[in-house]
Parts: sequence; structure tokens; C-alpha cells
Amino acid sequence: MFYVGIDLGTSAVKLLLMDEDGGILNVVSREYPLYFPKTGWSEQNPVDWYEKSMEGLDALLDGFDRTQVAGISFGGQMHGLVILDEKDEVIRPAILWNDGRTAEECEYLNNVIGKDKISDYTANIAFAGFTAPKLLWLKKHEPEQFARISKIMLPKDYLAYRLSGVHCTDVSDASGMLLFDVKKRDWSDEMLALCDVKREQLAKIYESSEVVGTLRPEVAEKLGLTDKVKIIAGAGDNAAAAVGTGTVGGGMCNISLGTSGTVFISSNEFCVDACNALHSFAHADGKYHLMGCMLSAASCNKWWMDEILKTKEYAEEQKNITGLGENEVFFLPYLMGERSPHNDPDARGTFIGLSMNTTREEMTQAVLEGVAFALKDSLEVAASLGIELSKTKICGGGAKSPLWRKILANVLNLTLEVPVNEEGPAMGGAMLAAVGCGAFSSVEEAAEKLVKISEVVEPEADLVAKYQHKYELFKEIYPACKPLFAIFSRNS
Ligand code: XUL
Repeated sequence: MFYVGIDLGTSAVKLLLMDEDGGILNVVSREYPLYFPKTGWSEQNPVDWYEKSMEGLDALLDGFDRTQVAGISFGGQMHGLVILDEKDEVIRPAILWNDGRTAEECEYLNNVIGKDKISDYTANIAFAGFTAPKLLWLKKHEPEQFARISKIMLPKDYLAYRLSGVHCTDVSDASGMLLFDVKKRDWSDEMLALCDVKREQLAKIYESSEVVGTLRPEVAEKLGLTDKVKIIAGAGDNAAAAVGTGTVGGGMCNISLGTSGTVFISSNEFCVDACNALHSFAHADGKYHLMGCMLSAASCNKWWMDEILKTKEYAEEQKNITGLGENEVFFLPYLMGERSPHNDPDARGTFIGLSMNTTREEMTQAVLEGVAFALKDSLEVAASLGIELSKTKICGGGAKSPLWRKILANVLNLTLEVPVNEEGPAMGGAMLAAVGCGAFSSVEEAAEKLVKISEVVEPEADLVAKYQHKYELFKEIYPACKPLFAIFSRNS
């Protein structure tokens, strides 16, 4: 049988066709626009997600026996607010995970209601990209749209709804809404009351590998599939990526270097970081995880290459970078503000240390290093909780660069294990579909049987020491710039 994983990303949807031995038969992707209507705002049109996914599905299955497709599941960009009216039509563009418009609402939740209460209700505090602050923003700034809401959905769940007709979500993605009691794996009545939301407006909650329904007959016909194809709930993209890289069970780590950058630490038990700098979410394997999320990771390099250097030759630009651990130039990668650990929507990208001798290579290197240092910030929080790691899996577009992998291994002082397939969330989605269809008895079993490592990158002691010194300097930059970011934001 075949299983389809759909990774509903921020720049594109990636679709992957897998057989029951974990063999990848085909991968396709389709891009859609991302809108920045104001500085720090970020939106997408949910209908684009559906149309491009349908186009992608047809291309994915081209030349394959469509009767063999047993199940479809998802990994999706998290936290996005999708609102539907009573006819299930999209009311306004989705407000995405990297949108920073809700500073005031976060201030209200964290400081007026209070971090302790919010953390008690949900296991997390408010961050600008989370869904609940967006609902408060909508209520204040677009009351007529707020009044029309019949269903509140997350991005991949909108897609699951269009394919199955079921309003569903899964525990890992629901965790990022700040409407969900992570420990209980159920909606938080206190948070719903605070946000003026009723249970009926929310989707039904499933574990990630549970079947929510089957393909709508009209969709099945369009795709040449049978309407017996199962739709499985799926997971937020980071939990799906963790499944796809075998980061399941306790004490494992996965780093995703996509548009966002995340450090994902799996745990058999529910746990909360007392400072709430790391998110405490439900995992797709039925357990829990901690996660640090930086808002701009591989997207910093993409911005630097595409928009500033105006080149598509990423490897060529990295070819002459040799002085690892010796760069005098530093880069703060906060192009969309920052989530973990600073929780500062006003933070911005910054180069520091430029001189007349600075080269193009050093600036490119600073961008790659800045992302690695910012990921280390989250690992430092994990270390302060007593979580000791010596290795991590890695996935996402940025993980394709051997130079970036080397920088990461040495900045983080971790052994990097690179899975054969770096399409983490799409692979995880396909694996969840296989579990949902009964091909494996559990997510752990699927991970054990299907995930293979292709390369291991070891840290080198002398380089680790050099980077530790550079990291100490990097840590000084954000606190020094923070007051300036606030002034600039007030004046923009
Ligand atoms: C996680 C987060 C991002 C998005 C990106 O909290 O906001 O990783 O899921 O797709």
C-alpha cells in the first residue's frame, strides 16, 4: 500500500509518497504566496493551500497505481489562525505563526491575566505567533469578522477538512493555540472563556495517528482515488518532523532548519520549563515534548541570498568560507522578531562588527552562524532544566548545506545525525498515515523500522572551544540592542 504525507509549509506545500517499507516513491512541491501586509505581519490564503495541495497530489500520484493509496496525513505550519463562517467559507486570510501583530494581546495575557495562570491553564505563556492572542486581536480590530466565526482551525486542519469534511485537529498542533490544556490533552475552559470562544467553534481533538474520516467522494473522484482512502489527523510540522526523523520516546532531539528553526526534545512525561521560554506541547507519539522556536532560520539565509546578494547559487557562496570560529562579524537573525527564548516581536536582524576588511564571505558566514547561535540559546534553556544532550537529528532545507551542518555541530557541540530523507514533516505525515492505516502498531514502531541515518557529523574539540568563545560574545548583542528595538518599533 501507499501512504501520502503532506507538509503544509510556509513557502510551499511538499507532498511525499511512501510505500510500507518506508521507500520514498515520489516527492513534489508547489509554492504559494506569502503576504506581509505590514512590517511584522504575515498572512496566507487558505484556499491557496487547498488548491496547491490538490495540484500537488495529482502530480505526486502521476504514473503510480492510485488504487494502492491507503491513507493521507499531514505535518502543518503551526499556530496559524484560520476562521470559517457558518458555510465553512474562509472569512479572512490566515494570520500565520510568524506574525508579530499581537504584542498588546500577549502583554495582556502574560502580565494582566498573568503568566502563572496562563501557564497553569495551558502549560505555556503567550507568544505573538500563538493562536489565542490572534483571536483577541481580531475581536478588537475586526469585530465584525470575529462575530462571524463558526469554526477556528489550524492550517493543516483546514486541509484535512477540505479533504474529509471533518472539523478535526490533533494534540500536537492544538498545543500551540494557547487554548489547549497540554497535560490533559483537551481544550482549556478557562482560556476559551478568556478569548470569548465556545467549544463548538473548535475542532474535534484526535491523537496524531488517529483516523478522522475518509476522502470526500467528490475529492476522491477528482484525484482518481477511492473514497476509502483514510484521512489521518497528522501533527504540527515540528512534531511531524520529529516522527520523520525518529525523534520519538524520551530524551531525543531534532533540529529543524526550515523557514523557522526549532529545537525539539521528546519526553515520555509531561514537563514544563518554569520560565516558559521553551514550549511544552503534546507529541505525535502520544507523549510530550519541549521546543524552542526561532522565527527566521533558513529564511535568513534565503533572504541574504535572494534579496540582498541576488543569487540562487547558495553552495557557490559558501564554497570559499574557511575561517570557522574566527569570524569578527555577527548577525542577529531576528528578521521577523524572535520567539524563543526572547519573546520579542520588536527584535530585528542586525549585523555587528563590520569593518573595511569585511568580506562578502564573512557576512554570509555570520548569517549561518547567527542562526546556529540563536538555536544554541534554546539548548541552553534546556540545559538549565537539566536536559543533557549529546546528539540530535537534523532536517529541513538548511540541513542540506554541509557547511551549515558543520557550523551547527560545533556551535551546539552535538553530534548531528542526518536522516536519509531530510523531508521531516512530509515523511512524518506519511508515517502517521501508515500507523493510522494499521501498517504499524505505533508511531515508535514505524520510526524504528522506517528511519535510517545517512550521515553523522561530529563536533571537533578545538572548533567547539572557538565557537563557545564566539557564543559568549553573541549573547551580549541582543540585550544591548533590545532597548533600541523597542524605540525603533515605537517610531515605525
Ligand atoms: C513552531 C512554529 C514554526 C511553524 C513553522 O512553534 O511556529 O515552527 O510551525 O512552520
